[in-house]
Amino acid sequence: MKQYLVILCLLVTLIACKDHAPLTHTKTHGLITQQAMVVSARKEASQIGSDILKKGGNAFDAMVATELALAVAYPYAGNIGGGGFMVYRLHTGETGALDYREKAPMAATKNMYLDSLGNVVPHKSTVGPMAVGVPGTIAGVFASHKKFGSLPIEDIIQPVIELAERGVVVTEMQEERLKYFQPYFQEVNPNGTVLTGNWKSKDTIKYAALAKTLKAVMIGGDDEFYKGETAKTLAKFIQEQGGIIIEEDLARYEAKWRKPITFEYDGLKITSMSPPSSGGICLAQIMKMIEPYDLDLFGHNSLKTIQVLAEAERRAYADRSHYLGDPDFVNIPQEDLISSEYLIERMGDFSFEQATASEDISHGKVDIIESNETTHYSIVDQFGNAIAVTTTLNSGFGSKLYCPELGFFLNNEMDDFSSKPGVPNVYGLIGAEANSILPEKRMLSSMTPTIVEKDGKLLMTLGTPGGSTIITSVLQTILNVHEFKMTMQEAVNAPRFHHQWLPDEIRMEPNRFEKGLIKQLESKGYEINEERSPVIGIVDGILIQEDGSLEGGADPRGDDTAIGF
Ligand code: GLY
Repeated sequence: MKQYLVILCLLVTLIACKDHAPLTHTKTHGLITQQAMVVSARKEASQIGSDILKKGGNAFDAMVATELALAVAYPYAGNIGGGGFMVYRLHTGETGALDYREKAPMAATKNMYLDSLGNVVPHKSTVGPMAVGVPGTIAGVFASHKKFGSLPIEDIIQPVIELAERGVVVTEMQEERLKYFQPYFQEVNPNGTVLTGNWKSKDTIKYAALAKTLKAVMIGGDDEFYKGETAKTLAKFIQEQGGIIIEEDLARYEAKWRKPITFEYDGLKITSMSPPSSGGICLAQIMKMIEPYDLDLFGHNSLKTIQVLAEAERRAYADRSHYLGDPDFVNIPQEDLISSEYLIERMGDFSFEQATASEDISHGKVDIIESNETTHYSIVDQFGNAIAVTTTLNSGFGSKLYCPELGFFLNNEMDDFSSKPGVPNVYGLIGAEANSILPEKRMLSSMTPTIVEKDGKLLMTLGTPGGSTIITSVLQTILNVHEFKMTMQEAVNAPRFHHQWLPDEIRMEPNRFEKGLIKQLESKGYEINEERSPVIGIVDGILIQEDGSLEGGADPRGDDTAIGF
C-alpha cells in the first residue's frame, strides 16, 4: 500500500503545481460545449456516452452506455458485478433517484463475519466470495432504460461490446494500479484474471469474456443476468468459491426508485441520494449547519471557512453512524435530522475560539483508511435532462474475485455493513444497529450523486468516489462554485480537506494548504493529518453557465475526461 501511496502523492504534487495560480485572476475552464456532455473516469466511457447523445439518445440512454463502458474501461470501480445510485432531474424540473445498491444474500446473518468468540474475522468481509453482495448494476441500467430510455437497447450496448472486443489502452495510472494489485488478484484467483500480467501503459487489454456476457445481456435483457444462463453461471461460480449467493438471490434482486433528499441552501435547491446512501442526508445536514455563516466573506479555504465546515462535518458524521441504514428495514428520522431547528441547535456549542472535541459530540472509536475506489459520472443531454451517477465495487476491484467465464470482478460491498458495532469498515466508518446485516438488506453507502438548481433552472450535476470523503468533496465543490465563484474546473481542482467526527482530525490533501494556516488551526485545537489521504475525492461535474453553455469539470486527480458537443 505504501508504494501506491507514494505514487499518488507524486501525482497530487503535480496537480498542486498545476493549479497554484490565484483563482481570482485568469479563469481556468474545463471543456465547454453548447448542448450536451458526459464526464467520467475514462475517455472511452465519456466518448461512448457522448456518441449515444449525438445519435439522438437522452441522458438515460447515455447512462446505460457510460455505466457499461466503465465496466470495460475502468474495471477498478466501473462494474457489472457491483451497484450504484443515480439522481436525475428531467428537463421539466421533475427529480428522482434510482437505487441499484447491492443487497445481502438470503443466507446472510448478523454475525457472519464474527468468529466463535465474537471477534471480526480479518478480511472475510473484504476479500473473496463471502464479501460479495448481490450485484445491482444490470438491474439499475435496465430500470433506467425502461423508464426513460429512447433508443433501442442494442444501439446502446453494441458500442460497448465493440469496445470490450477491441480492447482498452492502459494508462500510466492504470499501470501502477495493476502492478500494485497483482498479488491480490493472485491470492484470490490462482488461475488468473483478465488483468493478471505485467501490463504496461499503452498496452491494450481485450475483454473477450465480458464482451460475451454483455452480448447475452443485450439479447436477453436484465432477466438474462438475474434469471438466465448468466445467473446460473454466476451463482454456481460464487458457490464453488465458497460464497453463499444462490440463483434465487439473483432472481429476487430489483432496482428501486426512491424519493431523493431535496433541500435549500442560500437560494440553491439541492437534490441528492436518499438512504440507503447517507450522502443526501449528511450533505443536507452539513449545508444547513453552515448556511448562517458568511463563507464568501471568510474566503475559500480560509481559517474560518475550514473551522465552520469541519465543525459541521464532525456533527453530521456522528449522526450518520447512529441513525442511517436501509430505509426498507430501519426507521430513519429523516425530517428531524435535516430540520433547521435541530441543526441550528447542533451547531449551538461551536466557537471560533476553540475546536469542539468529537468525544463531546457522541461516542465511538474509529480508524480510517482512505480510498478512492468508487467512480462517478455526470451527464447533461441536449434536451436539458441531467443525471449524476455514482457506482462501485467498493474496494478497488471489489472482493478481487473474478469470474473468468463471465469476465468481471465481484464487489466486496458486504463490508459496508456494520459487521460488529464499534469495529470500523475499510473507510474507518463505524456503524450501529441501523446498519447491521440482515438477509436482503442493502448496506449503508456514502455515495452522493447530486444535482443543484438555481432560480428553478439546472445549475450543476456532480459527484465523486472517495468512501467517507465523498460527501465532503461534493460539499466543497458546490461551495467553490456558489460561494467562491470558481469555474467548474477550478472548483474540481481546488485543494480539499475532510473531517468525519472520528478520528478527531482534519485530513488535508498534502502540500496543498499553507503551513501558516495549518499552525493557526493547530493553535485552536485542531489536529491536522496531511498523510492519510494523498487525494480527497475525484470529482466529475458539469456546470450550466449563464449563457446556457455547459462547462465540464473532469478531475485531474484521475484519468477523468469530459466529452460533448
Ligand atoms: N462502498 C462505498 C460506499 O458505498 O460509500
